[in-house]
Amino acid sequence: MDDLIRLAREMQARAYAPYSHFPVGAALRSADGSIHGGCNVENAAYPEGLCAEASAIAALVGAGHRHIVECVVTGPGPQPITPCGGCRQKLREFASDDLPIHLCGPDGRHRTVTLGELLPLSFGPQHLARP
Ligand code: THU
Repeated sequence: MDDLIRLAREMQARAYAPYSHFPVGAALRSADGSIHGGCNVENAAYPEGLCAEASAIAALVGAGHRHIVECVVTGPGPQPITPCGGCRQKLREFASDDLPIHLCGPDGRHRTVTLGELLPLSFGPQHLARP
C-alpha cells in the first residue's frame, strides 16, 4: 500500500486545480501488480474538469490493463476524502465489490472501505451481458 500512497501523493502535487484549490491524487494497482496514478485536472469550463480517480483509470487502461485490485485516494485536508459518485461508478467498471479503497490524508491512511460499501447494488457490465 505504501507504494500506492507515495504515487498518489506525487500525483496530488501535480494536480491542476486553480479553481477549487483542492488538489487530489489517486493511485491504482492493476491485477498484474503494476501501479498507475492520476490527479484532478480542472478546466475554465468547470464541468469539463477531470477527477483524480478518472485520470488514474485512464492511465491504467492506457497501459493495457483492465482490472483494478487496490486504490488509494489522497486529499489536501486533514479529513480524508472519498471518491465522488461518478468516480465510484467509473471504478466499478474495472473492479469488484471487494476492491479496497484506502482513504488518505497528508499524514497517511485514515480508513479503508470497499467499493461495495461506497456503491451498493451497483450497476455494472454484467447487467448488459446477453442471456
Ligand atoms: N475531486 C477528485 O479529483 N476526486 C474526487 O473523488 C472528489 C473531487 C476533485 C474534483 C475537483 O477538481 C476538486 O476535487 C474539487 O471538487
